[in-house]
Amino acid sequence: MILRSSTHPRWFAASAADLQALLSDHLHCERKAAENSLALVWRYPHRGTSVAQLSRLAHEETSHVVQVAALLARHGWTPRADTPNRYARALLAEVRGREPERLLDALLVAAFIEARSHERLMLLARGFGERGDDELARFYGALGDAEERHAETFLELARPLVPEAGFDERLAFFGAREAEILAALPHASRIH
Ligand SMILES: [Fe+2]
Ligand SMILES: [Fe+2]
Repeated sequence: MILRSSTHPRWFAASAADLQALLSDHLHCERKAAENSLALVWRYPHRGTSVAQLSRLAHEETSHVVQVAALLARHGWTPRADTPNRYARALLAEVRGREPERLLDALLVAAFIEARSHERLMLLARGFGERGDDELARFYGALGDAEERHAETFLELARPLVPEAGFDERLAFFGAREAEILAALPHASRIH
């Protein structure tokens, strides 16, 4: 897909070391994905088609929050408080201020966050599967599949905003920047 790097092989062990922390961070990622989709509806209500797509997306992300919360509850855990997401913040810092660049960049950042979430949730599915934890493997596999579709939705919404060459250039920029940001972050029990 659009990612320019693969997650380091040692990431799984670090992320799985504290399951409550990982699930708590995951819950907040899903919550922020829902909020971000609705924030785009709030900022761009005149863009008719995307209002429907983004609202459906927010609905699906909210259902992911419910699923992560249910899994936490089955372990007898409540979600921990959210901690700053340096990954998303560094990407959002690249969003330009003027339209239509602002919307283009916001949609591309969302596409990269979804694509990276897809990669990582699939790594969790595989890693927990190899440990024989089928419940977690199925859980992450199902949610990971959805994130891949979401990345495609954001790209679909972004593509018509500018001429093709401008789109490709910005996609390449965020591809390189995302890989750079990720490489500088420590491995921890969180999704990014
Ligand atoms: Fe999600
Ligand atoms: Fe998503």
